[in-house]
Amino acid sequence: MKEQTLSHTLKNTQEMLAKHHRDGEAFAQMMKDTYASRFNDEFWDVWAKYIEPVLSENPTVLDLGTGPGMFLKVLMERYPNGRALGVECAEYMIDAVEDLPKNAQILTADLHDPHLGLENNSVDAAVASVVLHEMNQPVRALQEVHRCLKPGGRFYIMDWVRTPLSQYLDAATDGMAVFDPTTSVEKLDDMFIHFIEHNRFSVDDLEFLLKKTGYKVIEKSLLKNGSHARLIAEKR
Ligand SMILES: C[S@@+](CC[C@H](N)C(=O)[O-])C[C@H]1O[C@@H](n2cnc3c(N)ncnc32)[C@H](O)[C@@H]1O
Repeated sequence: MKEQTLSHTLKNTQEMLAKHHRDGEAFAQMMKDTYASRFNDEFWDVWAKYIEPVLSENPTVLDLGTGPGMFLKVLMERYPNGRALGVECAEYMIDAVEDLPKNAQILTADLHDPHLGLENNSVDAAVASVVLHEMNQPVRALQEVHRCLKPGGRFYIMDWVRTPLSQYLDAATDGMAVFDPTTSVEKLDDMFIHFIEHNRFSVDDLEFLLKKTGYKVIEKSLLKNGSHARLIAEKR
């Protein structure tokens, strides 16, 4: 009998993401519209405390799952002589990228098994904003980032993390009347499927994965009523 394998082809990943993102073009637009709520003052305060001190004068920064590449543009404003590299594989996200500055670039790769073609020890810092929960496994991505980071380079992760249903519904339903008998079954199904997808790793799972792939976790916090977490990890 032919051996059954779980294939991580780019096409499989793109199909999985298209389903999770519901309507790709609309989701790409939503990522643009909500960018400032993720990369807010608190994000930049944490950046100033943990990331800025390890950056070289003209840093190379890697943004995993960059989506429409908004963060790459801001990086280039801050570090005009640096380099900003965004990794992405969803075509509707790449199509939504606009006006990338000349030192910014999108690398098309599937983070389930990325081979980014970057030199060992060449990246100052990496970011993964709401990306790891969308993956079957983040092990190869964590290992590839570790290979590319300079010793002492830092990795800034923020994401959904496992949380009880009541807290998840507070964070995710956006006023949807989950228990109203007139709410459609389609909407309910969609909400509960996303509960499972957003509830993939706990903050301790992420810390465990980071430690096992060669990092030291130097900051770990729960955010948004426990539905999200932020971790800063350093390449040992
Ligand atoms: C929720 S969006 C966040 C976009 C951006 N990081 C931000 O915070 O604005 C997650 C992004 O990660 C990308 N992504 C998820 N899994 C991926 C994979 N296996 N390979 C490449 N990109 C992936 C998705 O296509 C999507 O653009």
